[in-house]
Amino acid sequence: MKTFSILSSLVLASVVAAAPSSDWTSAGGGYGSGGNNGGSCVTQDQATKIVHDFAFFLAHADPNQIQKANATAQRIISEDFTQQSDSINGFGGIPPGALTETNKQHYINGTLAQPPITGITDLQLVPYNCNQILWYWRFANPGNFNAPQPPQQVQGFNSFTINKQGLITDLRVEFSVFFYVDLGFNVSGFAGPITGVNP
Ligand SMILES: *[C@@H]1O[C@H](CO)[C@@H](O)[C@H](O)[C@H]1NC(C)=O
Ligand SMILES: *[C@@H]1O[C@H](CO)[C@@H](O)[C@H](O)[C@H]1NC(C)=O
Ligand SMILES: *[C@@H]1O[C@H](CO)[C@@H](O)[C@H](O)[C@H]1NC(C)=O
Repeated sequence: MKTFSILSSLVLASVVAAAPSSDWTSAGGGYGSGGNNGGSCVTQDQATKIVHDFAFFLAHADPNQIQKANATAQRIISEDFTQQSDSINGFGGIPPGALTETNKQHYINGTLAQPPITGITDLQLVPYNCNQILWYWRFANPGNFNAPQPPQQVQGFNSFTINKQGLITDLRVEFSVFFYVDLGFNVSGFAGPITGVNP
C-alpha cells in the first residue's frame, strides 16, 4: 500500500483546496432561468466551481480557515439539506438506507469538527441529469495526524443534487474503509477479511 508523508500531504493539500471559487449568484442566479424544463442545466463550469467550494469546506486544511470554510458552506448548501451515506451509517449506528443528516447547521458543524483533509484530487467531476453532479475523488490523507499507521489514500464518490438557486440540497456519499483506518479507528483485520462482514 502506498504511503504518503505528512509533509507531502500538506504540499498536495493546496492543489484543490486553496480558496473558495464559486460565484454562482453573480454568475447569473443558478440554473433556474430559461432553457429546457423551466431551467438550464448545471454546466461543467458551474459543477467544477461548486465541487471545489465544497472541497475547500471539507478540507478546512488550515485551522485558521474554519470561519472561511463555514462561510463557504453556508453559501453553497441549501437550508433543506439532506445527506445519505451507508459508509457513515455503518459506523454511526444508523440503519442502512436511512438519511444520515437532515440538518444543515448540524452537518456543517460536524464536518468542521473533523480533522482537516489533505491531498484532495478530482478523479471525475461531471454534471448529469441536468441538476446533479458526480464527483469521484481521492484524498491522500483524511486527516488524523495521530493515527497509528501512515496515511493511506481514500477514494469515494459524491453525488450532489442542486436546486434552482444553485445550492446543494442533497448529498449521497460512499467511500472506502481506509477512511476509518486513517482516522485511527480499530478496524481489526482490515488487511484481510473484516470480522463479521466478510468471513
Ligand atoms: C454549531 O457550533 C456552534 C459553536 O461551535 C454552536 O454554538 C452551535 O449551537 C452549533 N450548532 C449546531 C446546530 O450544532
Ligand atoms: C458556522 O456558522 C454558523 C452561522 O453563522 C454558526 O451558527 C456556527 O456556529 C458556525 N460553526 C462553527 C463551527 O464555527
Ligand atoms: C483492536 O481490536 C483487536 C481485535 O478485537 C484487539 O485485539 C486489539 O487490541 C484492538 N486494538 C486497539 C488499539 O484497541
